[in-house]
Amino acid sequence: MILDGKKISDKRLEILNEEIMDSGLYPQLATIVVGDDPASHLYVKMKRQACERVGIGSVKIEMPVRTTTEALIEKITSINRDSVIDGILVQLPLPKQVDSRRVFSAIAPDKDVDGFHPCNLGRLFSGHPLFSPCTPLGIMILLAEYDLPVAGKDAVVIGRSMDVGRPCAALLLNADATVTTCHSATKNLENITSRADILVSAVGKAGFITPSMVRDGAIVIDVGINYVDGKLTGDVLFDSVKDKAAWITPVPGGVGPMTIAALMENTFKAARLRECTSVT
Ligand SMILES: NC(=O)c1ccc[n+]([C@@H]2O[C@H](COP(=O)([O-])OP(=O)(O)OC[C@H]3O[C@@H](n4cnc5c(N)ncnc54)[C@H](OP(=O)(O)O)[C@@H]3O)[C@@H](O)[C@H]2O)c1
Repeated sequence: MILDGKKISDKRLEILNEEIMDSGLYPQLATIVVGDDPASHLYVKMKRQACERVGIGSVKIEMPVRTTTEALIEKITSINRDSVIDGILVQLPLPKQVDSRRVFSAIAPDKDVDGFHPCNLGRLFSGHPLFSPCTPLGIMILLAEYDLPVAGKDAVVIGRSMDVGRPCAALLLNADATVTTCHSATKNLENITSRADILVSAVGKAGFITPSMVRDGAIVIDVGINYVDGKLTGDVLFDSVKDKAAWITPVPGGVGPMTIAALMENTFKAARLRECTSVT
C-alpha cells in the first residue's frame, strides 16, 4: 500500500487554508536563499507556491553565493525584528563558508519554523517539541493520517543529520517507538534494518535499500532525493521493496509534499503563537 504524501499534503493544505481564513490572521514567511543552486531555488519556489495556496504571505530574500556568516546573521536579525514576519526559513544547503550552526542559532526561536534553533531542538529532544523540523514532522503526520500506530514499534532510522535523521528518531521516540539510529559507521546494517517495523531511510543514495534489508510487512519511509540519469528517485529500490513492505512512500509524491505541508502548519502555528491564541 502506498503512503500517498501528495494526497495527504493536498488534504492538509486545504484544511489549513480554511483555518487561516477563519483565524483572520495573515501569517508571513520569509525565505532566504544563499547562492544560485537551482534545486534550492526550486524548493523555495514550491514552498512559496504552497504559501499562496493556503493564504500565507511570503517574502523571498536572495543573497549572493559569497555571503558571509556575519552578513547572513545580520539579515536574519533584521527579519527577527520585523513584526509582520512570523516565520523564517533558511534554505539548505548553505555555501561552505557559512557556519550553519551560528546561522540557525540567530533565528528567533519563535520564528524558527524549520525547528533548527538549539532551543527548538532541545524541546524536541526533551520530549516537548514546539517547532519540529519539517521533514520528520511531515513523516509523523503521514503515519498518523493513515492510522499507523507507532507506539511499541521497532523503528530504525538510517541517517543522523540535524535536519532529518536525528529529529526523526526523536519524534519516533516521543511517540513511544523503540528507536535505533544507524549511520555510516554502523556495523551489520542489514541485521538491524530487517528487524524494523518502521524503516526510515535518510541517506541520499539511490538503490541503497534492497528487499533483503526490509522485514515482511514493514512500513518503509523513503526520505532520499537522488537523481539518476536526470530522473528523481529515492533511497529505496521501490519496485522490489514494495512487494515486501506493507506500506511504502513513493519518490516523488511521498515525504517531499509532507515536508511542505508541515512547514505551512508550523508557520501558521508561529502566527497564532504571536497572537497568543491557543496552540497545541
Ligand atoms: N524529501 C524531503 O523533503 C527531504 C528533506 C531533506 C532531505 N532530503 C533528502 O534526504 C537525504 C538525506 O538528507 P540529509 O540532509 O539527512 O543528508 P546527510 O546530511 O548527507 O546525511 C546522510 C546520512 O546518511 C548516513 N549514511 C551515509 N552512508 C551510509 C551508509 N553506507 N550506511 C548507513 N548510513 C549512511 C550518513 O552517516 P554519517 O553521519 O556517519 O555520515 C548521514 O548520517 C538526501 O537525499 C536529501 O536530499 C529529503
